[in-house]
Amino acid sequence: MSLLQPITARLSVPSRQLTGPGPDEAQLRTLLEAAIRVPDHGRLNPFRLLLIRGDQGRRLGERLAEIHARKEPDVPAGVLAKDRERFAFAPVVVTVVARVLAGHKVPEIEQRLTAGCVAYNLLLGAQALGYGAQWLTGWPAYDRDVAALLGLAGDEEVIGFVHIGNIRIPASEHPRPALADLLGEWNG
Ligand SMILES: Cc1cc2nc3c(=O)[nH]c(=O)nc-3n(C[C@H](O)[C@H](O)[C@H](O)COP(=O)(O)O)c2cc1C
Repeated sequence: MSLLQPITARLSVPSRQLTGPGPDEAQLRTLLEAAIRVPDHGRLNPFRLLLIRGDQGRRLGERLAEIHARKEPDVPAGVLAKDRERFAFAPVVVTVVARVLAGHKVPEIEQRLTAGCVAYNLLLGAQALGYGAQWLTGWPAYDRDVAALLGLAGDEEVIGFVHIGNIRIPASEHPRPALADLLGEWNG
């Protein structure tokens, strides 16, 4: 099958519409092996992957709510409830972590883009295996206390949490940009 067809049909499935059991060990390994094959200026491997699976998702959600409540004592209960559920639906979440070398001749943006390609590959790969997936960030991706909770070093950043699972409720399509609105041509 042409690679273009699945790219053209790519559609994120919101994480709360995902459920278990999700990919088995062999499928997950195949997916991860494919996902790490990314363009990488300088062959720096500026990323790593951290799995959050099963009950660990709910455990992480509890910790997120605790961190949020500590930092923002007036945070509404509904917001904390949402934090508890952030990782509660997909049976596996692949955290794509960028390991950014500061001051390297390969600019930091390029290193982050390489990590972003891994996240995008995960979306396409999960879909190719018949699963749904969504790339999420939200405040937990940018909070240093959450980073420490996840075991990230000081030079590491969350590029995205890619939620993967069986599709409980199919995603609905949304308007896509028209190519003509985005395309130009340089004529000197
Ligand atoms: C870097 C990045 C971070 C994102 N973070 C969120 C997020 O935190 N919450 C959210 O609802 N969508 C987020 N999205 C968007 C979804 O992943 C997804 O693209 C969106 O639901 C639209 O679906 P589509 O991919 O089928 O167009 C993010 C996308 C990217 C690229």
